[in-house]
Amino acid sequence: MKIIGVEKFGGPEALTVLDVAEPHAGPGEVRIRVHAAAVSPTDTVLRAGGQGTGNLPAVPGMDAAGVIDETDGSGGWQAGDRVMAIALPLGEHRGAYQEFLVAPADSIAHIPAGMDFAEASTLPMNGLTAVQTLEKLGLQPGQSLAVTGAAGTLGNYLVQLAKHAGLVVVADAAEKDRDLVSGLGPDYIVERGDNVAERIREFFPEGVDALADAAVMNDKAAPAVKDGGGFATYRWWQQDPGRGITVHPISVRDDYHSGQKLEALRRLAEDGTLTLRVADRLPAEKASEAHRMLEAGGVRGRLVLLF
Ligand SMILES: NC(=O)c1ccc[n+]([C@@H]2O[C@H](COP(=O)([O-])OP(=O)(O)OC[C@H]3O[C@@H](n4cnc5c(N)ncnc54)[C@H](OP(=O)(O)O)[C@@H]3O)[C@@H](O)[C@H]2O)c1
Repeated sequence: MKIIGVEKFGGPEALTVLDVAEPHAGPGEVRIRVHAAAVSPTDTVLRAGGQGTGNLPAVPGMDAAGVIDETDGSGGWQAGDRVMAIALPLGEHRGAYQEFLVAPADSIAHIPAGMDFAEASTLPMNGLTAVQTLEKLGLQPGQSLAVTGAAGTLGNYLVQLAKHAGLVVVADAAEKDRDLVSGLGPDYIVERGDNVAERIREFFPEGVDALADAAVMNDKAAPAVKDGGGFATYRWWQQDPGRGITVHPISVRDDYHSGQKLEALRRLAEDGTLTLRVADRLPAEKASEAHRMLEAGGVRGRLVLLF
């Protein structure tokens, strides 16, 4: 089968088309004929060797959508079911950039009705990350959440899920992204950039109850949080911001077996609570080009590789 793998870590050119033996589903697993795999920032980190060496070739990709072609019936799944899945590149089944992906039966969900594989592939990893963020921050309806990187895929889902949970949301946006971010329904929008905390404090003089730092601004964003509030970090920020603020490291790997949460996200995509955005669809062979585009910045919506 075809995979897009990395035999020697490096720049986008390190991604090559390789032919390897097909995997097969074991007990309690399904095999998915992957049709779409989303390209995320973490894929570029893996490709560059930033996640350790592991077994080569490394296969990036944490999101897949396709059709089940092998199953023992675990979880009620049947061959032919159209599903989306989170994949763990460092796990035994490797990442999503492969023609056939084996996944635990409890890690997958149906793709949203009326949406195609590319659209569905944008949801699992970042949707589950946003859910885990809200769970860990533990805010009550009416409390305030600031989201940095709101124009990105994780930021999109954070703003929309937080509004759905009844939170008061302030999102950052560059001038050019204002329409996109305002379409997500935040209560306030502030100009993005290094002084974002100051601008958030203009609306929340005491600070927000919590901040989800999808732009990875760390100490630049933390001053927006009120004393005793919460701060969600997605890239393992290690510092203590002080003032009694709790830093919550978010790790979507902990939600690998959260197929039920993924089904709930599917329903929210179907009823319009969540917007799934595809920036572009590229043949899998153009993975290097997709990584170059992502690393150049400014991509809105997810780039998706088609298999
Ligand atoms: N720990 C976990 O389990 C986990 C799970 C999911 C995601 N993540 C991480 O979360 C982050 C966001 O993921 P994503 O998929 O949403 O990435 P994304 O789609 O690339 O979005 C990131 C957004 O942040 C913006 N941004 C960059 N620098 C900024 C700044 N200084 N101020 C304001 N906005 C800025 C980017 O804009 P430009 O395009 O203009 O640069 C982009 O819109 C990534 O670092 C990802 O690896 C971690």
